[in-house]
Amino acid sequence: MSFFDSAAGLLRALPAERAHDLTLALAGAGARLLPRPAADDPRLSVSAFGLDFPNPVGLAAGFDKNAQVPDAMAKFGFGFVECGTVTPRPQGGNPQPRLFRLTEDAAVINRMGFNNDGMERAARNLKARQKNSKTGGGLVGINIGANKDSTDRISDYVLGFAVLAPLADYVTVNVSSPNTPGLRGLQNREELTRLLDGLIAARGAKRKPILLKIAPDLDQHALDEIADVVRTSGIEGLIVSNTTIARPPLKSSHAQETGGLSGRPLFAPSTDVLRGMRQRVGKSVTLVGVGGIASGTDAYEKVRAGASLVQLYTALVYQGPSLVARIKQELLACLARDGYANVTAAVGSGAD
Ligand SMILES: Cc1cc2nc3c(=O)[nH]c(=O)nc-3n(C[C@H](O)[C@H](O)[C@H](O)COP(=O)(O)O)c2cc1C
Repeated sequence: MSFFDSAAGLLRALPAERAHDLTLALAGAGARLLPRPAADDPRLSVSAFGLDFPNPVGLAAGFDKNAQVPDAMAKFGFGFVECGTVTPRPQGGNPQPRLFRLTEDAAVINRMGFNNDGMERAARNLKARQKNSKTGGGLVGINIGANKDSTDRISDYVLGFAVLAPLADYVTVNVSSPNTPGLRGLQNREELTRLLDGLIAARGAKRKPILLKIAPDLDQHALDEIADVVRTSGIEGLIVSNTTIARPPLKSSHAQETGGLSGRPLFAPSTDVLRGMRQRVGKSVTLVGVGGIASGTDAYEKVRAGASLVQLYTALVYQGPSLVARIKQELLACLARDGYANVTAAVGSGAD
């Protein structure tokens, strides 16, 4: 067990948000001292939307909201790190407590509400990182959203894109947080068409990859509409999924807290939505599978359901950062067992 795993264990004794703040500080201060992780096995490398990922395991949005520590997190072996959600103006988010560990369920409920320091701060952090890592840090995505009190949400996304896209490898459009009232309405056909058209126009000829992150709580008709809009829009990918507002049977006393549920109970429903999206869009759009991944077997199941890349957050809280290396080892073992030459060969093999 590494120093960081032991620290993760100790941090679980603290209230959840305090532990998260300390983890960020620790990562910023300590991970700089860590060596670069060993080069990944070439069977794990994935080419997607014009980028070469050394491995398909990414850190999901919400951990590093202000892009403070993407390169430190990459040292734990992530193939890419997604920072954000960042809104144009800083905002405090919901009152605390707003983050709950459901330990018995290997889950978390959060109603953070896009607490972040705003796009100018995130831009400064990303610029500083570009200056410092001339040899190239890891791949970094930036996840953008709208301010809670915005009167024109689509303009917020366009503004965030204009400022942050030049500083990241790809941009995620988050229309699926359950903690900003009305935000998920942007997943409707008309709104989504306007939003994606606006972003495609804003990116011009530079063609920075755009991914749309959706909720797991959509019915079949809504998924059909999203698939249609995404296919015709010209964006590169879909991230499936954000947290769920559903409450499957849970053991923890926090089960009825308002907010988005992540972790183990999200694995099956988010994988079902992922598989359904693969069936709808085929190979025309890159899929990123997120929700409840806690092992290499879980990551492999997302790949078989159609994901070229995966992300995780909640399992890191429970298992510490050595989880990333373990997932990669187990994923390789799954590929070898089933006779796949590499990750890409297995993508979608279980989607039909
Ligand atoms: C505390 C917390 C904060 C999150 N904040 C964001 C966010 O700002 N933007 C976003 O797109 N997703 C956010 N997420 C959702 C995660 O990126 C991910 O989609 C979800 O947690 C499912 O993955 P997991 O089960 O591996 O955690 C957050 C999740 C958690 C637990």
